[in-house]
Amino acid sequence: MRMAIRFVLPLLLVLGGIAWGGAPLVGSLVERWFRTDVEMRSQLVFNSIQESVTGLVLAKADRKIDALFKHITQDERLLALGLCTPDGHLTQRSTAWPKALACPPAPALDHAFTVQHIDGGPVLVATFALAADNTYLGRLVILHDLRFIERRSDSAELYLAGFLALLGLGAAGVTVVVARLTLRGWIKAVRKGLAGGSDGRDDSALSPDVEPLVREMRKILRNLDAPRVLAEAIRLDWGPDSLRSVLRDELPGAEVMVISNREPYIHNLEDGKVMLQRPASGLVTALEPIMRACGGTWIAHGSGSADQSMVDENDHLQVPPEAPAYTLRRLWLSDEEQDGYYYGFANEGMWPLCHIAFVRPTFRASDWEQYVAVNRKFADAIIAEARTPNPVVLVQDYHFALLPKMVRERLPEATIITFWHIPWPNPEVFSICPWKEEILSGLLGSSILGFHTQFHCINFLDSVDRFLESHIDREHSTVRAGNSTTLVRPYPISIEWPPTALASQPPADECCESVRRKYGIPIGTKLAVGVERFDYTKGIADRFHAVGSLLEAHPEWIGRFTLLQVAAPTRSRLAAYRETQVEAETAAAAVNERFGRNGWVPIILVPKHHEPEDVFTLFRAADVCLVSSLHDGMNLVAKEFVASRDDEDGVLVLSTFAGASRELQEALIVNPYDIRSMGEALHMGLSMPAEQRRERMRLMREMVSEHNIYFWAGRMLLDAARMRKRRNIEYSIEAMTRSAIKAGDS
Ligand code: F6P
Repeated sequence: MRMAIRFVLPLLLVLGGIAWGGAPLVGSLVERWFRTDVEMRSQLVFNSIQESVTGLVLAKADRKIDALFKHITQDERLLALGLCTPDGHLTQRSTAWPKALACPPAPALDHAFTVQHIDGGPVLVATFALAADNTYLGRLVILHDLRFIERRSDSAELYLAGFLALLGLGAAGVTVVVARLTLRGWIKAVRKGLAGGSDGRDDSALSPDVEPLVREMRKILRNLDAPRVLAEAIRLDWGPDSLRSVLRDELPGAEVMVISNREPYIHNLEDGKVMLQRPASGLVTALEPIMRACGGTWIAHGSGSADQSMVDENDHLQVPPEAPAYTLRRLWLSDEEQDGYYYGFANEGMWPLCHIAFVRPTFRASDWEQYVAVNRKFADAIIAEARTPNPVVLVQDYHFALLPKMVRERLPEATIITFWHIPWPNPEVFSICPWKEEILSGLLGSSILGFHTQFHCINFLDSVDRFLESHIDREHSTVRAGNSTTLVRPYPISIEWPPTALASQPPADECCESVRRKYGIPIGTKLAVGVERFDYTKGIADRFHAVGSLLEAHPEWIGRFTLLQVAAPTRSRLAAYRETQVEAETAAAAVNERFGRNGWVPIILVPKHHEPEDVFTLFRAADVCLVSSLHDGMNLVAKEFVASRDDEDGVLVLSTFAGASRELQEALIVNPYDIRSMGEALHMGLSMPAEQRRERMRLMREMVSEHNIYFWAGRMLLDAARMRKRRNIEYSIEAMTRSAIKAGDS
């Protein structure tokens, strides 16, 4: 509407001015034309009756003159006729002759025309001299009613105004349509130019109208990459301070929120006492130091038996207990919700779907309903906790595939960073999921979607490509679905450096002694450790078989080597997990029975949760750490082992199917399905010379210390900051487009 007014109003004003100034001109022109016309008519009338009237005047035939006048004045416009004597007396006149009108003066020549206003209307008075044989006989006066001319002149003025108004409207309409089309084309060209390549390619396709603007905007967008390029180029020593400064400088005032199923601190009631537990979760290990550094709110399921008794009226708790730095908001789930959402859809559906461990995924509609409902419940909690319209929301893991879209719908300006902590399968495998489209479009509510490896990103993009209508830009690794764009990138997760749990550790040889003492392992015996949750993806039974293979192929290790495996029971309500534990226990018992002797057993299995400090003591006591996951997104145990070894000793045997094997290449990389090779790798690790162990450990420590958890979070936050700035620019283009189109539409 505004655009139409902008064009129509000035045009109407100009045309109105023309009409106002031009109408009287047209009126007088019309009047002049018609008057000349009437004068000619008068002349014609005179010419046609001149002879008759002259004859009748000479014959003094007054009655005949009256009859002639009567006959002639039957013409509608001819008002009256009159006859004047030479001295100006009106001797004869037709009936309609106005009483007020006397004889007009004699014309200077043979005729004269004047206009007189009689009875409120204009009348043309035409006076003609009558003569015979050079004798002046008097004058004939012909009166014509001129009111019709006034009427025609008024109509002409009206037509002119109407015509100009129509012309104005037509011209404005055409201008609005052309302007709107031009503007649309222009905005499209700018957008295409920006999408076409910030690297300067595609310039030939740029329209010359928009080229300077596009170049300028590209320059601004390129500058936005600078902080990231800089951060990666100078290899910052990433720590809590650098993360805080990224937040302060690049995302000023941003409110940070973490959303996960597992909470970082669990309060359980044990023997009537409230006990604090830190869960065996890679996710918690990674995210907790970030929240300690940045502050904010962590929303998670309150799963501990004493959790409710520890929170305030808003279900809040300040943590860590020893030095509160952020708020933990506990969210309560009913047994039904937990069964459907956590055990059902997340752990019997998504977990086996994403991990190639040959456990069949189970998808139930009732589980899906709970999954949707619980995702919505967390979305409500985020909205309730958010103090700003644009928080940075860090959504964690496969429990919340639908959450990003739900939050995006209600907080459109939020920066949503979703991290998928487990692998992403290829499209064939993913197609098994009955709700694949919902999962994909839910995740694409994120601003950034992170995976551990490039391989998982590619699998995700391929899945989107296969099952969702979207635009995928593989070069920039973005997906545009609907109105939002998601950056899909690998961000290999890591751990805190230096780890908090290391601070309280005694020297490595003391750890060696205490662990051996605690578990009855003779000094001098080589020790391998394994630390995990009892999960079928971890390949625990496979590593026990590898120990059997080692002892069979290298009997010199019998009595001189022990594998200490600690495994925290997990998700035990599910049959697949109970079976995993039974299978591992059976495998350990079989190897122990076959090779154990004189009180020595090759495998010690401790099915119990261990706090981080105890785990670090085990790592520091070990000669070898064995990570034999059948499939693992990253596996932070491998990185924790490396971080625990500030003595630069110890060998890591690592599955090629764990994401960590991409970064920790100095580990002895194994295929956990190949039992004999895994046994050989164990042998190699146990026999490795000290210098080689040190070299390998140094390189791995360098990698983890540089690519620590602050680096992981920092890169995502820098990318998020860049996206926010980019979106601000896009917003202004959008706003421009919207207001231009709105103006055109209304
Ligand atoms: O790997 C995904 C993950 O969420 C990790 O964070 C963690 O190791 C594990 O799963 C935790 O499982 P849960 O919270 O179900 O015990």
